[in-house]
Amino acid sequence: MTEKPVINYGLEGIYVDESAISKVDGQNGKLWYRGYSVESLAEQSNFEEVCYLLLNGKLPSKAEYDEFSRKLWNRRDLPAEVKDIIKVMAPRSHPMDIMRTATSMLVMYDNDPNNKENSATLDKVITLIAKLPSIAAATGRFREKKEYIPPDDSLSIPSNFLYMLTGKKPTKFESKLIDLMFILHAEHSTNASTFSVLVTASTLADVYAATTSGIGTLKGPLHGGADEAALSMMNAIGNPDNTEKYIEEALEGKQRIMGFGHRVYKTYDPRAKLVRSYLEESLTKEPSDEVRRLLQIALRAEKLMIDKLGSTKGIWPNIDFFAGPLYRVMGIEGQMFTPIFVASRMAGWGSHIVEYWHNNKLVRPVEWYTGQLDLKYIPMSER
Ligand code: CMC
Repeated sequence: MTEKPVINYGLEGIYVDESAISKVDGQNGKLWYRGYSVESLAEQSNFEEVCYLLLNGKLPSKAEYDEFSRKLWNRRDLPAEVKDIIKVMAPRSHPMDIMRTATSMLVMYDNDPNNKENSATLDKVITLIAKLPSIAAATGRFREKKEYIPPDDSLSIPSNFLYMLTGKKPTKFESKLIDLMFILHAEHSTNASTFSVLVTASTLADVYAATTSGIGTLKGPLHGGADEAALSMMNAIGNPDNTEKYIEEALEGKQRIMGFGHRVYKTYDPRAKLVRSYLEESLTKEPSDEVRRLLQIALRAEKLMIDKLGSTKGIWPNIDFFAGPLYRVMGIEGQMFTPIFVASRMAGWGSHIVEYWHNNKLVRPVEWYTGQLDLKYIPMSER
């Protein structure tokens, strides 16, 4: 071929597979997991049930739900070596680097990591869904030089995560909030990290290798890292009255406002709407001055951005914009936000691995070469 082909930079608009796991309607701001709207799941389901749904393609019966949850809950504790490495890394590494390293270690405890039978893959994914929240919680504990807290058998995966992180049993409202965040982050079709997971899985590497790829990809501020970056921006704004000036100047300087814009959503992200509504509800629960201030900043930034860029460029708030203030309602620090994203997204990553391996095809795109050809090699002594 001599004519330059059409290149879809960033694979924008390219279909890479078929999937029955989730559907993102970017024009109308809608999201479904296995056919169920994310709003209905957020209001009526819980994280464990959503994991079952994503992995198995149907809602569980009571017996299936109990068995699945029990399996998850029983696997939450961490091996001693994993705790040790988290402790070593905690003082000098970002929690996402710790997540990546500690998750990779879990392959050591699998006697048959390369077994790709459907039931074996599901089992590995269940182990990872169980252990990733504990890795995140242990990371948070050791960062604050506190002791590891073993899982509590009476708590769900999200509530137990909060307990293992803070040492306090969550209130009913906190349990609802953390469960909501786990559900909303569980799955989002072929985003960058899921694609990265599938690229690794497509080589027939193991589930742990694929997951580690996903964590590395999720770290960046254009993807999962936007939640931490958005909170940093709100803290840099400081006083709500500085919001408009800060945003105007940032836009004039061609900076991106973190927590806004999306490759697929060209309208309000339905997940962001839900997070925003729970953030507003938290105002009725006597939140801290910090949370009140963050919410004021967020609402003023949201209004300005929608006025300026909503209808003109299709740039609206995404899930990461209001996530930070809501995590602050639960007392969670900024660097822990993306690890929570990892812990929740494992359900989606795992579901995609299971689905992809039913019809595996090595991912190997092509690029248009712009360099030279047939150069004459000159020995080093003659250069
Ligand atoms: N603030 C200001 N301008 C923006 C923003 C933003 N957040 N996002 C996009 N734009 C502008 C961009 O500058 C460009 O303008 P122009 O056409 O004048 O050069 C135009 O919009 C298109 O941007 P793009 O980067 O080509 O579009 P994309 O589809 O590749 O971008 C994005 C998607 C998410 C990378 C981008 O919107 C962004 O950088 N947002 C901030 C980071 C963020 O919040 N990421 C989380 C995404 S949702 C959760 C997740 O999946 O992790």
